[in-house]
Amino acid sequence: MLQLGMLRDLAVDGDVASVRVVLTTPACPLKDRIQSDVAAAVVGVVPGINRVLLTWDSDVSSTRGLPGRQEIPGVRNAVAVSAGKGGVGKSTVAINVALALLQAGARVGLLDADVYGPNVPIMLGLREQPRQGADGRMQPMAAHGLKVVSFGTILQPGQPVIWRGPMLAKALREFLYEVAWGELDYLVIDLPPGTGDVQLSLAQSMPMTGAVICTTPQDVSIADVSRGIEMFRKLNVPVLGVVENMSGFICPHCNERTDIFGSGGGRTLSERYELPFLGAIPLDPRIRTGDGDGRPLMVAAPDGPVASVFREVASHIAAEVSKENFAATAGPVMPGPRVPVNR
Ligand SMILES: Nc1ncnc2c1ncn2[C@@H]1O[C@H](COP(=O)(O)OP(=O)(O)O)[C@@H](O)[C@H]1O
Ligand SMILES: [Mg+2]
Repeated sequence: MLQLGMLRDLAVDGDVASVRVVLTTPACPLKDRIQSDVAAAVVGVVPGINRVLLTWDSDVSSTRGLPGRQEIPGVRNAVAVSAGKGGVGKSTVAINVALALLQAGARVGLLDADVYGPNVPIMLGLREQPRQGADGRMQPMAAHGLKVVSFGTILQPGQPVIWRGPMLAKALREFLYEVAWGELDYLVIDLPPGTGDVQLSLAQSMPMTGAVICTTPQDVSIADVSRGIEMFRKLNVPVLGVVENMSGFICPHCNERTDIFGSGGGRTLSERYELPFLGAIPLDPRIRTGDGDGRPLMVAAPDGPVASVFREVASHIAAEVSKENFAATAGPVMPGPRVPVNR
């Protein structure tokens, strides 16, 4: 608790004590435990207290600067969502986790860096083009409270784009440093599938807090997933954990769960690589429906069972981010290995 929260403004009025708990993330998964621990601690220390009133506050910790990496002003943490291949639900996870963090009270941006399939604007119902602000910088678009920038808005629909390394690196730099992101606790980045130029460029230009790996239970060959984990490790990007998507089917009528593709692959993978398991998101047709009308699940059905799974996953991610930041302040800053950006 000492790592994740801090106590401020302890006041006593008769037999009632009040205290403000400042967490390193508003999406803290340990709130219940902290609540009882703090209450017990206060009652133990201050004599004559019968009731402890807690108010929650947060001051999100920031990722450390790294030599050779340029920080994005105002952005405290960048979390990349990655997968070995397309279609596993990377964008779905990125969008709904971003919304869950937002709904918990964080300031959140979403960068759709999937240059080969930038469908975040469609999934969020964004139709307009990004505008330039008075200062000449690109203004992120607004969707359900998120600040969004996407490759999808600079590409012509239906037109194939062949990016060469230097061109891609330049476009990415513009998205990171020439966008008026403002103050963000979390910038969630939807990566293209696999291990390519975008991953390299991003990891080498900015201080990335960490990467989340998405898998599905039917990922029989986990070779491409393993490649992704190895790549992040080589690039000195902490892997925050594994999310298993499409893990079992929840019937929208009776809410019963059926393991169509099996389940547990994500957990096995996380055990093999000694990574945190961040959660299992069920197959649910309501997730897919949201794509059509631009209302993702966290907006369309925030009170349903799947939304609470996304909240849990988001809390896990936020906790891992806090842990990474805490560990980084405790240890020496190591320079990353050199990998050429433009091959
Ligand atoms: N848990 C889920 N249940 C139902 N449909 C899902 C789920 N996760 C993703 N989908 C759907 O599967 C398709 C692919 O997901 P998407 O997030 O676009 O994958 P990726 O970004 O990895 O290519 C989308 O139509 C999405 O709505
Ligand atoms: Mg996608």
